[in-house]
Order: sequence, then C-alpha cells, then structure tokens
Amino acid sequence: MPAPQAGILLPVPSQARYLIFSLDDAACLGDALRELRELADGEETVVGFGHTVVSALDASIPGLKGFPPVDTPGVSIGNGPDALWVWLRGDDRGDILHRSRRLTKALAPALRLEECWDAFKYAEGRDLSGYEDGTENPVGQAAIDAAIVGGDQTPLAGSSFVATQRWLHNFERFESMSEDARDNAVGRRQGDNEELEAAPESAHVKRTAQESFTPEAFVLRRSMPWAEGNAGGLMFVAFGASFGAFEAQLGRMVGAEDGIVDALFKFTQPVSGAYFWCPALSAGKLDLSPLGL
Ligand code: HEM
Repeated sequence: MPAPQAGILLPVPSQARYLIFSLDDAACLGDALRELRELADGEETVVGFGHTVVSALDASIPGLKGFPPVDTPGVSIGNGPDALWVWLRGDDRGDILHRSRRLTKALAPALRLEECWDAFKYAEGRDLSGYEDGTENPVGQAAIDAAIVGGDQTPLAGSSFVATQRWLHNFERFESMSEDARDNAVGRRQGDNEELEAAPESAHVKRTAQESFTPEAFVLRRSMPWAEGNAGGLMFVAFGASFGAFEAQLGRMVGAEDGIVDALFKFTQPVSGAYFWCPALSAGKLDLSPLGL
C-alpha cells in the first residue's frame, strides 16, 4: 500500500497550526498545487483537499463531498471554508509561523487563506475542559484500518478522509457545572479518566462508543486544543477510511437516532465543520495523481 501522510498516524505534536483556504483563482490552481507538493512532506505538514478544489480540477475522489450542515433542535452546524486544509505540526511556534507564511505565499493567488488557528497539546493530551482526549483511539494496525484507505488496487489506497470541526468552549458555563455534572456530560471521571458505567445516555462516550455501532464506527482522532486571546476550545479532527464512522457518531451526538443530544453541547458548540481528502505519498511527496496532476 502507498505510504499515508505520516503525521496522520503519529501522536499529536506539542504545537500546531491549522490553515484553511478557499479557492480564489482556479486558473492558477495546478501550479499552486505543484508548489505545495514541493513544500508538504505529509509529516510536519499534513494536507487535505476539499471537494471544491477537486471539482475545479475536473477530478473525482469517490467518497469526498461537502460537510452536510446539521440543523436539528438545539444543534446547528454550518460548513466552513473547504478548499484546502493544512495541519502544520511541530514544536516551535516561530518555525510554524514561517512555514505558514511560506505556504500561504506559494499558494496565492489560487488559494486564499481564510482561517488560521494556533493549536497546542495541553498537559499530557487533554481537552481544555481538563478531560483526557484520545483514550479510546485505535492504535497500531487498528489505527491504520480505521484511518487509511486500504487495498493495493484502488487508486486511493494510502489516502485518508478527514472531518474537522472547530468547537468553541463556554468556560463560564463549564465552570458553573458541578464535578458530577461535568463527569456525567463526558461519561468519564476527570480525576482518573475511569469510564462511568452509570453515566446517562447523553454522556459523550456513551453517544460515541465506537463498538456500539453497526458496523463498528472507528475513527482516528487527532484533535488539539486551540486558543485565541481568552477564547478557546477543541479543533476536532477525525481521520477515516471514509466519512461513514464520523457521520454515524455525529448523528448520535445530535440526537438523530433517539432525540437524546450529547451533553457536551451544554458547554461547547461546533462553530463549523468541513471535509477533506488527504492524498497518500509517492516517493516522499504528495501523490496528486488522483487529481490529474
Ligand atoms: C469539543 C468537542 C469534543 C470534546 C471535548 C470531546 C472529548 C472527548 C473525551 C474526553 C473522550 C473520552 C476519552 C477518549 O476516548 O478520547 C472522547 C471520546 C470520544 N469522542 Fe469526543 N469530544 C468532542 C467531540 C467529538 C466529536 C464531534 C466526535 C465525533 C463525531 C467525537 C467522537 C469521540 C469518540 C469516537 C470517542 C471514543 C468513544 C469510545 O469508543 O469510547 N468527539 N471525546
């Protein structure tokens, strides 16, 4: 199988930046993406293309589509810019800034930077609510099976589909909840990360328990806290061999199956969502052949 972008499978870095571009001048797109191929290694720089870029190139990536907006009682999630997603990973904010500037310049005027979010690892890998995030992530071969398109025959083998959502936490509301109410919202105890057997059906980990779906709905989460001024939250990032598992989980979170809404929504809200396809690597560079480049 062609190699996936290594940053997908590696643990989250200590520092990161998410760049989200919209499509501006489609006539220059091919040149911009050939430049991107020289700059992105798939490890320090993970790249995903949205359906707008794919159709502007007259290409087709089966399974890639726009993020379907959610509008159910109490939950509304729109779709954000989705031409190109770049996850800059590292441990030095200065270095990340310079890489970010270089990329933005190389991609203009085809792609315009719409959003830029600085992210970081909090403690040993916690959400800003203080709960450990990622405990039930698949590891090893199970992570590859969940996140990477398999099979040597398919032209998409080694690539991945990523769902992203920027969640904005309401820290005042979170801090006004009792310790029990917080633990019941997540379904785990913050102190020792133990799962609460008696948690209510609205508890996040009951909503999303990956083995409870038919078929089982495993994703590889690589979310990181983000902050700007005193605002912050979670940049939710889930890689999958398709968007199927993510959509099953999100459907349950918003109460599409049984009307029960995930209790996380009591203190945090997704601002927007977007879908991207992350190509495999060929000889250490992004394999853009499925895009006709
Ligand atoms: C601000 C938003 C979110 C926060 C703070 C959050 C936090 C957490 C925490 C603390 C856990 C328990 C530890 C772990 O297994 O990682 C967890 C589990 C999980 N979350 Fe989230 N999460 C968020 C959004 C989402 C979204 C949008 C999805 C998918 C649509 C999702 C899917 C999952 C899954 C699949 C698990 C593991 C469930 C299991 O199999 O036990 N999360 N999350």
